[in-house]
Amino acid sequence: SGGGRVFSGIQPTGVPHLGNYLGALENWVALQNQYPSVLYSIVDLHSITQHQDPAQLRSNILDMAASLLACGIDPERAILFQQSQVSEHAELSWILGCLTSMPRLRHLPQWKMKSKLKNEGSVGLFTYPVLQAADILLYKSTHVPVGEDQVQHLELAQDLARIFNNRYGDLFPEPGALLSSTRKVKSLRNPSAKMSKSDPQTMATISITDSPDDIALKVRRAVTDFTSEVTFDPETRPGVSNLVTIYAAMAMISVEEAVSQAGELDTAAFKKLVTEAVIQRLAPIREEIERLRSDRAHLEAVLARGSCRARELAAPVLREVRQRVGF
Ligand code: ADP
Ligand code: NA
Repeated sequence: SGGGRVFSGIQPTGVPHLGNYLGALENWVALQNQYPSVLYSIVDLHSITQHQDPAQLRSNILDMAASLLACGIDPERAILFQQSQVSEHAELSWILGCLTSMPRLRHLPQWKMKSKLKNEGSVGLFTYPVLQAADILLYKSTHVPVGEDQVQHLELAQDLARIFNNRYGDLFPEPGALLSSTRKVKSLRNPSAKMSKSDPQTMATISITDSPDDIALKVRRAVTDFTSEVTFDPETRPGVSNLVTIYAAMAMISVEEAVSQAGELDTAAFKKLVTEAVIQRLAPIREEIERLRSDRAHLEAVLARGSCRARELAAPVLREVRQRVGF
């Protein structure tokens, strides 16, 4: 609170899943009320580091916009915008890329993982942490909500702020991490892995637009273990503990309270409780997404206005950068 500017981005992967909601979006909604200046970007430039079908991408961008609004992002409190519509991101990224060494990027864990997975990676995939740094610094952001998996990328943004400032004179504040203490939601079918959009297993991921029947089926099929009692011990009982985490988050109570509410219930009965809580919490969000999806023009107008406001903030910063660099 007080001063400060928050920036965060999310890729247009279509409708978010429960992990995105609890791990990121719920926190985004809270932050828009705590900081005077908040920017949330649908980062479509990042998403094309892997091939996207153009029509699908366009519809995923609008679905993400609808989802963010339905989850409670308020375009009056936060600037909600589409990254590619503010070309300053790409230009600053180029300049920062020229201040970044190859080994610095090669050592980032996500490159190691993703390029190995694909067996080869695009130049864009290699340099996307530089674009992330540009996203943040372009607005002189001071606070960046990140998951643990993104901390090293934020460190690159901090380094680049320092390197730029040293070479060209102070311009960028060093952005700090807002580490969300929020829960990690695990895959329902493989609770040692996180719930993820890219999980190849079916029934493993709850989308925030899943129907009550889908939710009930997925929770019923969730992997547990051979103990029927409900306890919270993520190390030895990841499946049941994941359900406790989800229940606690949905009912907005602590994990301890959730276990105590489960009381004498066995895991099968507890799953019914979890199902009800998820259905109840997601119902209004789902309805709002449906409503917003049917009004494409409205979604486009929200993004256009947000992108215009973002550009108003970005343009003077980039002008200053260009001048410092000698353009
Ligand atoms: P995915 O792995 O499904 O592609 P992303 O990597 O695009 O998800 O993550 C988008 C945001 O949601 C990030 O802030 C990330 O930390 C958060 N997030 C993703 N999956 C989970 C999860 N299972 N639990 C908690 N937070 C998550
Ligand atoms: Na990610």
